[in-house]
Amino acid sequence: MENNRRNFIKTAAVLGLTGMSNPMDLFAANPELSQKSDIKPVNGKYELPALGYAYQALEPHIDAKTMEIHHTKHHQAYINKLNEALEKEPQLKSMPLETMLRDLRALPDSVRSVVRNHGGGHWNHSFFWTLLKTGTKPSPALTNMLTNSFGTVDNFKKEFEKAGTGLFGSGWVWVINQMGTLKIVTTPNQDNPLMDLAEVKGKPVMGCDVWEHAYYLKYQNKRADYLTAFWNVLNWDQVEANTR
Ligand SMILES: [Fe+2]
Repeated sequence: MENNRRNFIKTAAVLGLTGMSNPMDLFAANPELSQKSDIKPVNGKYELPALGYAYQALEPHIDAKTMEIHHTKHHQAYINKLNEALEKEPQLKSMPLETMLRDLRALPDSVRSVVRNHGGGHWNHSFFWTLLKTGTKPSPALTNMLTNSFGTVDNFKKEFEKAGTGLFGSGWVWVINQMGTLKIVTTPNQDNPLMDLAEVKGKPVMGCDVWEHAYYLKYQNKRADYLTAFWNVLNWDQVEANTR
C-alpha cells in the first residue's frame, strides 16, 4: 500500500493530473482507493483480470456463455483499445487507471475519449466481476444502512430495478456512498460516478451492467428480468466491504 501511495503521489505530481489539492487527502478519505489504484498496466499493458470463479458459477441466473463472452470478448476489447491508445501517450502508463478517470479533463485530447470509454469499461467490468457471487445476503449492518437510506431493503431493490429499467440505452446502475448515505445513480455508456464529468459523483459500492451484452443471450430484451435475477448473484459481502 505504501508503494502504491508513493507511486500515486509521484506520478500525480509529475503529470499534474490529479486536480486535487492534496492527494494524501484522497487516500485518507478512501483507503480502499489504494487497492483500486492497482489497476495499472503490467509491462506497459493492461491485462484482463481473472474472475476468481467459473463462468458457470452464476447459473441459472447469469448463464455461462454470457459470462464467457462478456469477460473474454467485451472486457478484453475495452482493454485492447485502452492499451492501443496509451501507446500515443506512454507517460500515462504509470498512472493508476482510477486517477485518469477522476480527472479526465486533464488528459491529453489524443486519449481522453478512449480513456473515458475504454478505460471506463475496464474499470467498470473489473469492479463488476467482484460483485458477483451466489448465496450471500445483506448483513445486519448493511441492512441497517440500506434501511436508513431507502426505507427497506425491498424498497432499495425496487428503486434500483426502476433506475436500471429506466436508463435509456446502454449504461450502468450504481449505488454510491455519500457520507454514509447510499444513493442510486445511473451513468450512460461506460461512464461511472468516479469520473469528473459524472452528473452525480461518489464512490461506487455496487454497480450493475445493463448493456444488452450483459443479459441478451438469456433474457433477450427483458432487462427487468435480468435485474430481478441480479439479486441472486449479488455478492452482498463485497457490497458491504465497499461501504467501508
Ligand atoms: Fe459489460
